[in-house]
Amino acid sequence: MTNPGLEGVVVADTTISDVDGERGRLVIAGSDVEQLAGSTSFEAAARQVLAAGGADPAPLTDAAFGAARAAAWELVPRLGDALDHPDAMDALRTALAHVRPVADDAGAALAAIGAAPVFVAAWNRRRAGHAPVAPDPALGHAADYLRMTLGRPGDERCVRALDAYLVTVVDHGMSASTFTARVIASTASDVISAVVGAVGALKGPLHGGAPGPVLDMLDAIGTPDGAEAWLLGELAAGRRIMGMGHRVYRVRDPRAAVLETAVRPLASPRLELARAVERAAAKILHERKPDRPLAANVEFYTAVLLDAVGLPREQFSATFAVSRIAGWSAHVLEQRRTGRLIRPASHYVGKMP
Ligand code: COA
Repeated sequence: MTNPGLEGVVVADTTISDVDGERGRLVIAGSDVEQLAGSTSFEAAARQVLAAGGADPAPLTDAAFGAARAAAWELVPRLGDALDHPDAMDALRTALAHVRPVADDAGAALAAIGAAPVFVAAWNRRRAGHAPVAPDPALGHAADYLRMTLGRPGDERCVRALDAYLVTVVDHGMSASTFTARVIASTASDVISAVVGAVGALKGPLHGGAPGPVLDMLDAIGTPDGAEAWLLGELAAGRRIMGMGHRVYRVRDPRAAVLETAVRPLASPRLELARAVERAAAKILHERKPDRPLAANVEFYTAVLLDAVGLPREQFSATFAVSRIAGWSAHVLEQRRTGRLIRPASHYVGKMP
């Protein structure tokens, strides 16, 4: 019996995160996501997941994250045309491939974590016809990422919301990109190769590519009273509603609520519309598929939050990667310790000689 989506197949024991899809609970390195997102910086969350993966947390100080961004800045002039890709994820994938793999896995992970915000922000600056902005190692990761993207310091409330976002998405069980990273790590390949492969897996709209289209959807709907007709038109055209549904959750994704709370202080003009569209989508999808709960996933309010802090929609998926790169790296470290090559089987249904 083939199982092409590998649903329910358990491939690892992990201490990094746990997704309870029935109850809508996400635990990251021993803390509920709701608690972590409101109380911790990205650096602290990254330290916790890396430590859960087996890294020594002592060298992973906040200053070390700043130093990693500064080291990545030295690479920017040597990225060739990597940052000319029209797609931010293609640019990130190509640029990250320039980070030298080093023998120390935790050191390589830190280099990649530092590089991602520098490269993504530089991509956006170049696209807009501006010179890239050098990192400020004294700032927090979220503040510096926003500053390098916008070309000016971000508003304090925006920095806090972006930090909460980065914490919220730092890890999420055996997602497709995490599995990709673990498969690459299982061959005894290097950390940089694993995160480059994971970026490729994250790029697709069924995984991390949804938040930009969610914002496009909100723009197309315009006002709450237009939601139902627009959504019905999408379904009639055979398209899925972006930001709704999840492989694991059978209830609303808990990260949707965390991000909805985090965006509140920003008074986003799109928040009320997003809530109305979510309600309409949940109602229509329930009528269509009463046996398959389809509720908002993380991408729904990701779109609202990242837009409210001032990031362009073309940068949303890459911003997810800026955070998740810490989770991927933690999984690479954990996978390494198993020492087991991941090598499943296929069922041949072709001709025999
Ligand atoms: N809009 C409309 N229908 C949806 C849907 C959505 N967002 N999500 C699932 N469905 C439908 C499927 O078409 C399928 O219908 P069918 O049985 O008639 O073919 C049914 O619900 C079951 O879906 P399934 O394909 O088994 O779900 P999955 O576990 O493979 O899909 C996602 C999970 C995330 C890929 C899917 O919900 C999706 O495409 N969502 C939109 C993209 C998105 O938001 N991605 C970000 C994920 S964090």
